[in-house]
Amino acid sequence: MSSARLTAAALLPRGPLGRLGRPLLLVDQVDSTNAQLLARAAELPDGTVLCAECQSAGRGRLGRRWEAPRGASVLMSVLLREPRESPLPAQATMLAAVAACAAVESATTCSLAVRWPNDLFVQRRKLGGVLVEVITPPGWTGERALVIGIGLNCLQHRGHFPPALAESATSLELEVAAPVDRPAVARELLVALDRWLTVAARRGPELALAWRRRCGDYGARVQLAENGQSYAGTVVDIDEAGNLVVQLAEGGRRQFAAATTTRIS
Ligand code: BTN
Repeated sequence: MSSARLTAAALLPRGPLGRLGRPLLLVDQVDSTNAQLLARAAELPDGTVLCAECQSAGRGRLGRRWEAPRGASVLMSVLLREPRESPLPAQATMLAAVAACAAVESATTCSLAVRWPNDLFVQRRKLGGVLVEVITPPGWTGERALVIGIGLNCLQHRGHFPPALAESATSLELEVAAPVDRPAVARELLVALDRWLTVAARRGPELALAWRRRCGDYGARVQLAENGQSYAGTVVDIDEAGNLVVQLAEGGRRQFAAATTTRIS
């Protein structure tokens, strides 16, 4: 795998960023970019971005691990300080998924679809994911620390994935014929996250509309678990807060929040 390291010169766009990237921290290895920003939330400014070449304890949703060989992925987290009553934490997975789709489409010929709540898919294979974590650091009263983490598989070949994921995971390298410019993917992700944060701050319908356009789930049959109870049904909508609206097989409609729902299939 030939991979130029991510540098600030390659990641920063020509034009100015709004909220993100001051500072832009680039490291070779961390336990997890999300864990680092959460641990240092009290000392780092709003908009801090952290990218790593490699994570020793990358985190996925629901306590899963997120693995990637050194230099193969974009592993990016951003730290935001949000007022306690801000709607952004509830929308952050949706925002990051939409931004990741836009970034991949700007930097490559690949198109992604979102699988609710946080998976980024090409056809039936997972290329990336989003992990949003929120904490209130000790002593903070009016604000919370929101960390949005995104992992995008860029340069992996089939053999880089563990056997259990060999059929279900993919990378840009596997999906597109042209060489993958990983720094360009990272830069476009930074730009798209920054732009969607500006759009979301206006609190209009654009984010939910963009998410719906990207969502590959409409009409899909799903099995979900929430608070120890299982549900089966068909996806009919995603509401503006990013909840999955399901027509239940047993009758009736129900909304499922990403934070409390496990998707079984
Ligand atoms: C998932 O699909 O379960 C979410 C995966 C999120 C992985 C990214 S990689 C950058 C950031 N740091 C982490 O530890 N996790 C996220």
